[in-house]
Amino acid sequence: MNLFNQPITLENHLHLDFSQELKEDIRRGLLAKQKRIPSKYFYDDQGSQLFEEICKTPEYYVTRTELELLESIAEDLMQGFQEGDLVELGSGAHWKIQRLLEATDSAQRQRLRYLPIDVSQEAIRVSSQALQRRFPDLAIHGHIADFTGNLIGLKQSRPLMMILFGSSIGNFEFDEARDFLRRVTADLTQEDRFLLSVDRVKPASVLHAAYNDQAGVTAAFNKNVLTVLNRQLEADFVLEDFAHKAFFNLEAERVEMHLVAQRPLRARVKHLDMEFEFAEGESIHTEISQKYSKESALALVQAAGLQLVRWYHAQDEWFSIMELQKAN
Ligand code: TRP
Repeated sequence: MNLFNQPITLENHLHLDFSQELKEDIRRGLLAKQKRIPSKYFYDDQGSQLFEEICKTPEYYVTRTELELLESIAEDLMQGFQEGDLVELGSGAHWKIQRLLEATDSAQRQRLRYLPIDVSQEAIRVSSQALQRRFPDLAIHGHIADFTGNLIGLKQSRPLMMILFGSSIGNFEFDEARDFLRRVTADLTQEDRFLLSVDRVKPASVLHAAYNDQAGVTAAFNKNVLTVLNRQLEADFVLEDFAHKAFFNLEAERVEMHLVAQRPLRARVKHLDMEFEFAEGESIHTEISQKYSKESALALVQAAGLQLVRWYHAQDEWFSIMELQKAN
């Protein structure tokens, strides 16, 4: 689909497999002793929109801190990447990549391509259009796809800069994160780069506030995953029956998010032909958000076969971006 007469293309890779996978994940997740829903299902069009709202809450320092950091390092970064493909995994809105592109001139942009990958078609469409307006000389090829799935053929003969911004890597367990990084970097050469953002360990009170904003946007976002199940699988979850719960697990250095049943209840999931029982106070584990120290971040990338080219730190080291390459 060509949105203008400009070089934007959008390809949809979210076919039947994704709903099959959703069904299987929900069946397995809701049968487990500790019920759980994989966090990627948060990000339908509505969920992506709500996440944008979270980013604007005064408590959620993550996005603001990262944007400031990107602004200050964009020139350095883009100096080192004169031509090739910028592949952004889970691109969402365009604010972050825009910071990088602002440090390029038209001649450089004509040697670059931007390949956003996201499960939300709406997010890709809106951000591609906005970027196109801002940078008419940039080729944009969007892929509507689950970036945790198979991303074959992304690596072409041109240099590649793969990007995972935000605290997305923190939403995986250690082993999952390692395997994911290995998989997406499998085709990369030594010349290619991977920009990996990591949210850092910081005072528990700051973290608690960031995941429990006063206005309740985070709660709405967390509960929206039930709306996704209601729509996609014809389930009958009543959102008011669940409460948002998020806390910082000091030992594991991560925020954990749950949806807690407020009374004993049953939920029917028509497409699974199943009914699930909840005791009062029983929770569905919906998300982890790992916070990293320098050591734990390095341990992760090393386990994934990557090595540090350099670190970029936000003020007070509240947030860091790792520039990585394949290990020798
Ligand atoms: N990737 C975001 C993070 O870890 C996602 C997120 C923010 C989130 N707030 C949330 C996920 C609340 C679930 C519930 O910061």
